[in-house]
Amino acid sequence: MEKKGYAIVGAGYFGAELARIVNTLEGAEVRAVLDPANGAAVAEELGCDLEHDLDSLYSRGDLDAVIVATPNHLHKEPVIKAAQRKIHVFCEKPIALSFEDCDEMVKACGENGVLFMAGHVMNFFHGIRTAKRLIAEGRIGQVLYCHAARTGWEDPQPTISWKKIRSMSGGHLYHHIHELDCIQSIMGVPELATMVGGNVAHTGAEFGDEDDMLLITLEFPGKRYAILEYGAAFRWPEHYVLIQGTEGAIRIDLQDVGMTLRTRQGEERYFVHGSREVDEDRARIYRQKAGDGPIVYGDPSKKPPLWLQNIMRDELECFNAVLHGGEIEEEFTALFDGTAARAAIATADACTLSLAENRKVRIAEITGEANPGC
Ligand SMILES: NC(=O)c1ccc[n+]([C@@H]2O[C@H](COP(=O)([O-])OP(=O)(O)OC[C@H]3O[C@@H](n4cnc5c(N)ncnc54)[C@H](O)[C@@H]3O)[C@@H](O)[C@H]2O)c1
Repeated sequence: MEKKGYAIVGAGYFGAELARIVNTLEGAEVRAVLDPANGAAVAEELGCDLEHDLDSLYSRGDLDAVIVATPNHLHKEPVIKAAQRKIHVFCEKPIALSFEDCDEMVKACGENGVLFMAGHVMNFFHGIRTAKRLIAEGRIGQVLYCHAARTGWEDPQPTISWKKIRSMSGGHLYHHIHELDCIQSIMGVPELATMVGGNVAHTGAEFGDEDDMLLITLEFPGKRYAILEYGAAFRWPEHYVLIQGTEGAIRIDLQDVGMTLRTRQGEERYFVHGSREVDEDRARIYRQKAGDGPIVYGDPSKKPPLWLQNIMRDELECFNAVLHGGEIEEEFTALFDGTAARAAIATADACTLSLAENRKVRIAEITGEANPGC
């Protein structure tokens, strides 16, 4: 099979591992790395070129795709410049920190006919895919309500990561956009968003400036609702997605890892990550860390846990297959052109405005459209 050439822009904790995975895929090879801090070490490890700026990287002529894994606020420029050079894009989440920026990126990729896949890994969880199949089969009837929680407690860290600085990461809601995106992929785009909260227990020099308690209510057309909780001010950590339907419910537990379908006929259990071994490995990590966990950044030698490595492989395999001309599965269409990622950030922006102005916000106020679509 002909090899597709990849570049990595941002080769820290996540970018370095994505690069290693690319090099194990059939018909894929990392040809260059760009990262001012970690690029040299990662290029040496991978045996590829080290580049120093985007223009020389993208003018090499041997690249089919770029993986953008810089800090969140630095995704836009490498994505847009890649699109202008007709280089396909895989961009880590959140693709950007405002609807406006996402829109520019989506349009640049669309106009140049390149893929713009967002690294929304939850879409590839065995449990999430199974839940969507069960919903499509009518097992829980009509979905009325979803509830997601991603909460824990955070102690002071030895250094303050960019992940804790709102202007760089977006804070818990943007940085952990996975749950919001997941709910939108099940329920569609909401009409109204309300968010309350703030920084209630993590102010001071040893913390960043992000809000540590965010409580969100979403209102969807047809009397359907969702609630999301995010933050690091919760001494009883929780991480789950609960989907309530007219005929049954599905609970995907990402902490005591496992998935349960409950209907009148009883309960059925499913794996979240496709096997008992991987589910148990993830549950064990949660039990050891209890909370938000240590924040890993700036070090490509740190390895993501097994469940995450597996899912990174799944999403990159999918991306690489499409790069080689494979069809995009219907459930992933909006993941491959950036529109699902943009729709999630539109809702996040509505939440941010709601908190700032203490009012309900229409998503259309952010997107300027009657129905932003997904
Ligand atoms: N999908 C997931 O579950 C998941 C998990 C972790 C991280 N991420 C995402 O991956 C991205 C990277 O996160 P991380 O944990 O690897 O952070 P990190 O801090 O470890 O790595 C970021 C890297 O980007 C480099 N960098 C900074 N500015 C750059 C620039 N202008 N050009 C090129 N490189 C630059 C840094 O030197 C660093 O090596 C973020 O968007 C993050 O949200 C996703």
